[in-house]
Amino acid sequence: MDCTDRHDRFFLRLMSKNVMLYSEMVATKSAIHGDRKKILSFSPEEKPLALQVGGSNKEELSEVAKIAEDMGYDEININLGCPSKKVQKNKFGACLMKEPELVAECINSMVNSCKIPVTAKTRIGFDDVESFEYLNNFINKIHKAGTKTFILHARKAMLTGLSPKQNLNIPKLNYNMVYEIKKENPNLEIIINGGISKIEEIKNHISKCDGVMIGRSIYQNPYSLVDIEKNIFNTEIIPTREQVVEKLLDYVDKEVKLGTKVNHIMRHTVGLYHGQAGSKNWKRYLSDNMMARDSDFQKAKHIMSIVQNNEKAIQANS
Ligand SMILES: Cc1cc2nc3c(=O)[nH]c(=O)nc-3n(C[C@H](O)[C@H](O)[C@H](O)COP(=O)(O)O)c2cc1C
Repeated sequence: MDCTDRHDRFFLRLMSKNVMLYSEMVATKSAIHGDRKKILSFSPEEKPLALQVGGSNKEELSEVAKIAEDMGYDEININLGCPSKKVQKNKFGACLMKEPELVAECINSMVNSCKIPVTAKTRIGFDDVESFEYLNNFINKIHKAGTKTFILHARKAMLTGLSPKQNLNIPKLNYNMVYEIKKENPNLEIIINGGISKIEEIKNHISKCDGVMIGRSIYQNPYSLVDIEKNIFNTEIIPTREQVVEKLLDYVDKEVKLGTKVNHIMRHTVGLYHGQAGSKNWKRYLSDNMMARDSDFQKAKHIMSIVQNNEKAIQANS
């Protein structure tokens, strides 16, 4: 939330054809009563794509599951892991870990209203509850209601006393708990999440679980997706940063004509040169120029020349 969006996903997809992409959390009420085009629409290029929903009202959740299916999403995922105060007040996210019965009813109503997979993203515990038994029972209850795939953020959520940001760093990562869940439930699809960035780490996790979800490290260093394509999916032909920007500029052109602001797209590319010689130039260029309201040819050409210079700087350094 307040970070990724459909423009980011379009950009990420230019670097990886194989990863599954997830939307930010959308509250059921916004999905049902809000501007659906603005909140839920996406480009076909983003697929395979899951819509993540936040809520605990069965009727609303089943309605959103149907909407997601009708709009062409490939999966609907319920958020059972967000600990923010606002989310708790609305009774969704991590506080629902306290209410397995309610979650099971919610999942059941979603499963009955759509044919796309209904999946859950949750923490491994909350407050002073971090036990294998609790998590295993919670997961099994939800499984019986119709979910086979679980994304487990391998740290507990503190429902009081920590800010959302602290809740992503302070509770200790406990990957073993996730591995144990997979061992105990080999028929479930268990995706591990939290603090993962390196290829070696990914390889290690997928030897014990069914998949890996990555959040912050991809946002900070989006081009690392091509390493994942190369080393995990064995993709041979991968785009250069220059090719990525070239394709993104075509998208910018199209989107600007529909009323999108240039910075709403380009802000997601700040990390494109993460760790490279040209990264400062790129960031400076973006901060000086991305408030532009249009993307006329001159601007596109200018961006390309910055990219080409960066590519040269990188080659000279390697
Ligand atoms: C700015 C920000 C927004 C987030 N929004 C969501 C969200 O909408 N839904 C969700 O399930 N997780 C959300 N998360 C949590 C991430 O999906 C992920 O579980 C967490 O950051 C741990 O994984 P990582 O270490 O790979 O980032 C958010 C994280 C950050 C930093």
